[in-house]
Amino acid sequence: MNNTIFVDGILREHVAFVTGGGTGITGGVSRALAEAGASVVLVSRKLEHLEPAAAAINQNGGKAFAVVADVRQPEEVDDIVINGAAGNFLCKAEELSPNGFGTVVDIDLKGTFNVCRAAFAQLKEQRGQILNISATLHYLGTPMQLHVSAAKAGVDALTRNLAVEWGRYGIRVNGIAPGPIEDTEGMKRLVPEPIKERLKKNIPLGRFGRISDIEKAAVFLCSDAASFINGTVLVIDGGQWLAANRML
Ligand code: COA
Repeated sequence: MNNTIFVDGILREHVAFVTGGGTGITGGVSRALAEAGASVVLVSRKLEHLEPAAAAINQNGGKAFAVVADVRQPEEVDDIVINGAAGNFLCKAEELSPNGFGTVVDIDLKGTFNVCRAAFAQLKEQRGQILNISATLHYLGTPMQLHVSAAKAGVDALTRNLAVEWGRYGIRVNGIAPGPIEDTEGMKRLVPEPIKERLKKNIPLGRFGRISDIEKAAVFLCSDAASFINGTVLVIDGGQWLAANRML
């Protein structure tokens, strides 16, 4: 993928710490960063998701390590942090328990904060960067997604605040907000089969996103090509959220 779009080794000598990095969107981002030359530390609660992803990267000539880690203790040499760990389910607001709401806020929002905070000293020394994986759910009111909308709105606030506070240390903080991306856990969990086609018709570019769409944006934002981009949340959804309200 990178060979045809990016200069070879565009992220050589970088080390990326990717939470939720074994599968789905962040699995793809890990692979793409490795193809671009970065060494990648894949972090998740479940080693069984991480090991195959790390093995695939290593077999492909990249460098990856799988770590089941407390997100408060990142590796000491990282200069790129990707916050991709997330939890979600569909639930009506009136049926959502306080613990259900809190669990998603804990994983998505507090988890992102914990990792950023723990990585700060190292990022400052390396003039490193953070990429937070967000969503577009909170741009409009999205039924059955109160918990994750609230959490991701908070993640976007972290992105902007940290960009301002830590920019002075040379740390860039950006986000990516994917729309519906096919072949992901999110798509399986959140988009019931009968409404898939209707949803697709409402995407101006006429297709669902692909994991590779997110990978390319992540490589770009992590590279020197984006060296003056700070505090941006890049929406990658084929124009879906802009159109959603008018077309449904
Ligand atoms: N509907 C309503 N509430 C739910 C729920 C659902 N589908 N799934 C979990 N919850 C609630 C639980 O009932 C519990 O609240 P309670 O104690 O008041 O009953 C609370 O959330 C915590 O659930 P638990 O299963 O103990 O949490 P967990 O840490 O094991 O799981 C989740 C985390 C809830 C995010 C789970 O969905 C998960 O692990 N998902 C896998 C990864 C994922 O979601 N990826 C993102 C794809 S977009």
